[in-house]
This record gives sequence, structure tokens and C-alpha cells, in this order.
Amino acid sequence: MITIAIDGPGSSGKGTVAREVARRLGFSYVDTGAMYRGVALAARRRGIDWADASAVARLASALQFDFGWDGKLLRVFLDGSDVTTAIRTSSIGAGASVVSRHPEVRAALLQQQCELARAGGTVMDGRDIGTVVAPDAAVKVYLDASLEERARRRHAELVAKGESTTLAAVAEALAERDRRDTEREVAPLRRADDARYLDCTSLEPAEVVELVVGWAKAAIGASPA
Ligand code: DC
Repeated sequence: MITIAIDGPGSSGKGTVAREVARRLGFSYVDTGAMYRGVALAARRRGIDWADASAVARLASALQFDFGWDGKLLRVFLDGSDVTTAIRTSSIGAGASVVSRHPEVRAALLQQQCELARAGGTVMDGRDIGTVVAPDAAVKVYLDASLEERARRRHAELVAKGESTTLAAVAEALAERDRRDTEREVAPLRRADDARYLDCTSLEPAEVVELVVGWAKAAIGASPA
């Protein structure tokens, strides 16, 4: 069973596409960004400073992550409790970007992510799936979109959830996260040499899903049974 790796910057549409591709193929879906968000949330709840690399890493290696479908929605469980909504705030997004810079935290999550990838029949999305977590993935996609379009999507999501924020503030926060994610020393966000690059600024998610499902079916047809 193959693994599909989908990487790209925040709000590029990775999650929506990865989830739908997984559903269409009957694959499991692992949202690695949700794992970093879960670590940031758990640290905040325990009063651990996001900057304290070793304390956050100890916490990360002890956390149990589970993913489950609820219709079309993916639910994320942390040590058995549902954190689907709690991890989606902008504050926890910023925290995820901070904790994900620590090599010790990445090592702790990498171990769990590699086990999930090894199971196969999996769609994984994040920043370093095609480069570090699953370098042998049969299908690798790098999803991109302009900062303006990503900010527009993210702003609409936050407003729909009742967060009061401006488009300019969202764009600034996204640009700052892009900078942290691409400039960090360990596993920075970058396109794997063999990843397909898709700029989806003016593509509908359904169009992107069709493309990825097509590539996946070709790869499944070509892989040994
Ligand atoms: O995709 P997201 O917005 O849920 O990710 C939250 C943060 O986690 C993001 O700022 C970078 C980090 N991340 C990472 O470093 N590596 C991954 N594979 C996934 C996410």
C-alpha cells in the first residue's frame, strides 16, 4: 500500500485536499500539523513554556495521537480527548510553529509519524513529509498558493469560527509562520526534488483532488501488489 505525501505552506489547502484524497481512496489520513498543534496545546494546558525545548520534547514523546472520521470531518484525539476544535485557534497555530522549531520535539513526533507512514495506505500532510518523514512516498505533492489567497482563506475560516481578526493581521501572521517554517534549521519547509508542484491559487480544491487521485491511482497500478 502506498503513501501519499502532501506538503506546503499554511492555508495552501493541503488539509482539505489530503482529507478528500484519503476518503476517495479509502486511505487513512495523518495531519502532522495537528500533531504539532496538539503538542502546543498540551504544553499550554500544563503551563510548559513553548520555548523550553527539552520539557516540550518530553511531553511530545509521551502524548498519544489518534485520528478518526466523523462523516467528512477528521477528529483529532490527544490522549483520548477530542481536541479537534481547540487546536485550530491562531494562538495554538503560532505555538505549533514555535514548538516545531525544536529538533528534540521533531524527533519525538517523527518517530510516531514514521510508524504511521510505514503502515501504508496513508495520506500524510505537513511541511517535511516528502523530504524527511516519508522520503520514499509513491506520490509527493507540494501545494502552494499566493500569500494573499492563503490569507483570504484563513481569514474566512477564522471569521466563520467567531474569531475577530482582520485580513491584514492574518496575512502578517501567515507570512511570519512561512518565515519560521522555511528558515528553521531542522526539516524546513521545502519542496522535495521529486515532488509535483501545484500552485492552487486559482484552482478549486475539487480540481486539485482529481489531479492527486489520478496520480495516486497510477502509482497504485504501478506498485507491486
Ligand atoms: O499545517 P498546520 O498549520 O496545521 O501546521 C502547524 C505548524 O506545525 C506549522 O507552523 C509548522 C508545523 N509543522 C511542521 O513543522 N512540520 C509538519 N510536518 C507539519 C507542521
